Amino acid sequence: MKARVHPLRRPLRGERVRVPGDKSISHRALLFSALAEGESRIAGLAPGGDVRSTARCLAQLGVPLLRGDGTPWSAAAPEGLGPPSRPAGSAPLPEPDPDMGPDDAIVHGVGMRGLRAPSADLDCGNSGTTLRLLCGVLAGAGVPATLVGDASLSRRPMERVAAPLRELGARVRTGASGRPPVTVEPGAAIHAGAIASEVASAQVKSAVLLAGLFAEGETTFTEPARSRDHTERLLRQMGVKVATRGTTVAVRGRARLSPVALEVPGDLSSAAFLLAAALIAPEGSSIALRHVGLNPTRAGFLDALTQLGARIQLDLKREAQPLPGGEPAGDLSASTQGLRGAELDGDLVLRAIDEVPILAVLGAVARGTTVIRGAAELRVKESDRLAQMARGLRAMGAQVEELPDGLRITGAGGGRPLHGAEIDSAHDHRIALAFTVAALAADSPTLISGAEWADVSFPGFFDLLRSLGAEVELVA
Ligand code: S3P
Repeated sequence: MKARVHPLRRPLRGERVRVPGDKSISHRALLFSALAEGESRIAGLAPGGDVRSTARCLAQLGVPLLRGDGTPWSAAAPEGLGPPSRPAGSAPLPEPDPDMGPDDAIVHGVGMRGLRAPSADLDCGNSGTTLRLLCGVLAGAGVPATLVGDASLSRRPMERVAAPLRELGARVRTGASGRPPVTVEPGAAIHAGAIASEVASAQVKSAVLLAGLFAEGETTFTEPARSRDHTERLLRQMGVKVATRGTTVAVRGRARLSPVALEVPGDLSSAAFLLAAALIAPEGSSIALRHVGLNPTRAGFLDALTQLGARIQLDLKREAQPLPGGEPAGDLSASTQGLRGAELDGDLVLRAIDEVPILAVLGAVARGTTVIRGAAELRVKESDRLAQMARGLRAMGAQVEELPDGLRITGAGGGRPLHGAEIDSAHDHRIALAFTVAALAADSPTLISGAEWADVSFPGFFDLLRSLGAEVELVA
């Protein structure tokens, strides 16, 4: 599918807009609930393809889980897969609940020892979080399985997860050059241990901590800088002892998880595209977003906006505040503003790692130079995001230098500095979404191919933009 995005001719306006549920929290909510003892209820899950991949894999592992309204998880699977096959003898599915909807879930946790070996490979689709977190769980539980992914996921590095799990006693095999498929082999016993990682990664950290839940004693994970802490928060909420000392996190096994009732806040990583669109849209634009997750280990985008000279209104919701393990959330709004170049680096970039593509777009329309460093990890995301952003922004007439770990962008500032161009999403949702926003500020239409990849994290994005005042046509 292609999206033809026209230059914005009028202001963008929206009030009380909801963005999809947080993807990182949604994966964890499903996965940890599956391991709990009893029924969990989760409201407002991320509706995109990635979280569906996690749900499908859990179904294949015999976990009884259901969308609140009873529709199967595979209903709109982008790959067109049928319903997942559940292992023989799996516990029956829960009953749907008339008060719940398709973005809510009911999960009957099977406990730490209740997963069953799947009868086929576990297809993680486009989702690195699904593959890496499941790998930790399966290694810990000693459940043999092979995890595969789509073309993009099949290019991504998996030794960063497999190697530490081997250190804990698991037998995990990766494919050529350490990429998927990843196979967890039977017959290994997991033990507690102290893992030091060269990369700051919440996915690697989570895989290790999850495996550690199955081992007797304390398992620690130390990373060079502190990655997002959704795993720590939710495990605490489910009754697990989690200690944080600097950049080290420790869990104690063997753990038992209590079920939860959760409301997933909106995804700041999705909100970022709408906030950015409001900032660069014609004078008079204003978008107000409701109930967006504001976890400080994830909210670097808001700090980056401050550095770019933007003012965002934030109304932190008190009721979402520190329940143990709770995730802070609040309302955010943005309006048209001139931006200035900024130097973005270090901890801020780690806390905004998924927002670098949209920050690069803002850099291209700001006045002055924007330098983004410390983002080498972007080279191994769903695509090489540094290369894709440099290529696409150049095609739109921006001056961009690709650095080994970032981008230097000479912003043109004022007027309509970007030109319409043909852009390919490279199977990467954030590339499709970032260039859609860039296209709004261009002087002629932009054609984005592979626009359907936006559905991985933000189904309905193009319709939502249209409802806010943008002109977007979807063409086959
Ligand atoms: C995620 C962690 C980050 C992030 C990804 C989601 C998570 O990846 O980029 O989109 O949910 O744990 P890394 O852990 O590889 O940095």
